[in-house]
Amino acid sequence: MLQHRSTESGVAPISASVGTMKILVTGGTGYIGSHTVLSLQEAGHDVVVLDNLVNSSEESLRRVSELTGKTAAFHQVDLVDEPAVEAVFDQHQIDAVIHFAGLKAVGESVQEPLAYYYNNIVGTLNLLRAMDKHNVRSIVFSSSATVYGEHNPIPYIEKMEIGANNPYGRTKEQIEDILSDLGNADDRWHIALLRYFNPVGAHPSGRIGEDPQGIPNNLVPFIAQVAVGRREKLMVFGGDYDTPDGTAQRDYIHVVDLADGHVAALNYIAERAGVRRWNLGSGRGSSVLEVLRSFEKAVGQPIPYEITGRRAGDLPAFWADASSALADLGWSTTKTVDQMCEDHWRWQKNNPYGYNAAEPAAASNA
Ligand code: NAD
Ligand code: UFG
Repeated sequence: MLQHRSTESGVAPISASVGTMKILVTGGTGYIGSHTVLSLQEAGHDVVVLDNLVNSSEESLRRVSELTGKTAAFHQVDLVDEPAVEAVFDQHQIDAVIHFAGLKAVGESVQEPLAYYYNNIVGTLNLLRAMDKHNVRSIVFSSSATVYGEHNPIPYIEKMEIGANNPYGRTKEQIEDILSDLGNADDRWHIALLRYFNPVGAHPSGRIGEDPQGIPNNLVPFIAQVAVGRREKLMVFGGDYDTPDGTAQRDYIHVVDLADGHVAALNYIAERAGVRRWNLGSGRGSSVLEVLRSFEKAVGQPIPYEITGRRAGDLPAFWADASSALADLGWSTTKTVDQMCEDHWRWQKNNPYGYNAAEPAAASNA
């Protein structure tokens, strides 16, 4: 059961702790998941990880354990396998779940919508059914700024109408709807929907970080692979946007700040039933060229790039209104884009092929 702790103000500051809980982290070997496992262990929680390793490696957990001196129980389980999911709940007395597991590549979701809807939606339904059966009704869910779609003015605020413009984003929106319906139907549920902006960076130790398979879709992992010599140059998608330098602006957030945001949200919902949504971002936009310059500073060398056409579906600029997370959770970002790039670079330089010791045959220069 959750251990409750009341606060005088009714607002849980980020330092508040509800005591030791046993947290199931789905997708816990992945990029954000592994950093969150570390933050949870540092905050004193016991962690159980469930992941099918479709986009990650168990090596990340071994390294987290090296850093924290604690071990997370690991289950290689696919969320679409309902009996296997149930078995994890039979084996551990879970207090709350942080649900990262899912497929996340926007372009791939356009090509393979069935795979995305099946994996993300069915996987989540199996998880929620197993939770309900085992009387576990606290969940923090990884949503995304992509749910704000194309029609909203910036900065994005949680109360805006959402409407994603790609299948990946629609799985996030639909899962938000499922969780909202659940919370509205049954007041025993404690639900946090966290809308992440653009997570980058790595743990400052350089031991864990983002390890994309194949050609990276995202800006910072691509720059990092150019810097380490795995790719020839960065293609900057669009130099003619109506922004200060013509390149698109995003709200980058250090993955360690993001991980800490989950601990803060978990503390908050431990004491409060209902459904809540928070943006996790810095509230500031940075352009592609600004990020490139920060990364060059971290590396100490220029990074080759070429400005090319816009990428289909990209927006010129968006960032978060991050004031709700500050007011409710006492959480805000602490790290600058320069620090994100320094930490990302330390990870990439020390682990040029990610968790693989050597270049995988299929991922050679492209
Ligand atoms: P990731 O791919 O590194 O982690 C996701 C993990 O889920 C992987 O370890 C993968 O193996 C696992 N997984 C996928 N399907 C599964 C299934 N059916 N059963 C069990 N495990 C499964 O991605 P990440 O960047 O750490 O993202 C974590 C979550 O945050 C995802 O839900 C993603 O959609 C969301 N998110 C990410 C970003 C971003 O830019 N990285 C932005 C917004 C939201
Ligand atoms: N970009 C380039 N070259 C590249 C990669 C990206 O110029 O090689 C540009 C993009 O055009 C965009 C910016 O860098 O202007 C950021 O692109 P990312 O792909 O890193 O991030 P997005 O904002 O497009 O999307 C990411 C995730 C989404 C998520 C969103 C908000 O991929 O899943 O952040 O959280 F929804």
